[in-house]
Amino acid sequence: MRILLISSQKGGVGKTTTAINLAALAGQSGSRVLLVDCDPSGGISSSLGADLEASADILPGVEIIRLEEDACPEVATLQTLLARVVSARYSGDYDLAILDSPPFLGEWLELLLGLSDEVVLVMRSDPMGFRTLPAFLEALQAAGANGSRVKMRGILLTLPPHDRWADEVREAIGAYLLPATIPHDPAVTEALLDGRPVVLTHPDSLSSVSYRSVAETLGLFRTEPEPVPAFAEPTWSSTAGQALDGFGAEPIYENAGNHR
Ligand SMILES: Nc1ncnc2c1ncn2[C@@H]1O[C@H](COP(=O)(O)OP(=O)(O)OP(=O)(O)O)[C@@H](O)[C@H]1O
Ligand SMILES: [Mg+2]
Repeated sequence: MRILLISSQKGGVGKTTTAINLAALAGQSGSRVLLVDCDPSGGISSSLGADLEASADILPGVEIIRLEEDACPEVATLQTLLARVVSARYSGDYDLAILDSPPFLGEWLELLLGLSDEVVLVMRSDPMGFRTLPAFLEALQAAGANGSRVKMRGILLTLPPHDRWADEVREAIGAYLLPATIPHDPAVTEALLDGRPVVLTHPDSLSSVSYRSVAETLGLFRTEPEPVPAFAEPTWSSTAGQALDGFGAEPIYENAGNHR
């Protein structure tokens, strides 16, 4: 069972939306998916607006688990949840676990990075987004130093860069960008009103096409997906999608610093 962490210490960037949609795509393709809500505010349940017991109806192939109800945001509650992920790994009942993280750094992120095999950093390409990058990369390096096998799979932009930023973005993190950005898409909000992921309610929407491209890059489909239409072709020349052992190397820090 692969464990994929969807992370960012910045709030409201699209982590939960990404986790739900990637889980839905993987589940739809026949993978057995465990979607793990590690956010004390219960982002997944509030997005789906449903009793998680009914999750199999909303997300075929996906089982959702979360922190104990009314849990205080204490590390012990996360440790309990992650112990369930470890048991799931050894049960052989799942192919993939997707962990949706809260916008926290510190011990929460350490624990999540410690358990995960892969991480996708979700980011908005605005100045505030870039300021969060160095701290995240430090946490990633610390996790590696502490024995985690976590690999950075890439940065997912959930807002395409403004023209004024495009060159700087490419220079700073172009090599790590996943080859699709998620556009702002009203269909995401419409799907939310139905308590379902956009990839299931509006499969032809721009955000769904992009999410399929991301899922394909990350190898989340159990079977071959339908071809991605031409308009979802990568915006960036990128090597992202490969596991990046050396992620967090100095040039990234330096370039990220230029955006302050
Ligand atoms: N591509 C998109 N287009 C339009 N709206 C979006 C898109 N992605 C996410 N949203 C909306 O933006 C809001 C924040 O998204 P989401 O909850 O996924 O972010 P988050 O990073 O998980 O936030 P938090 O840090 O609070 O957990 C939600 O209302 C969501 O519906
Ligand atoms: Mg969230």
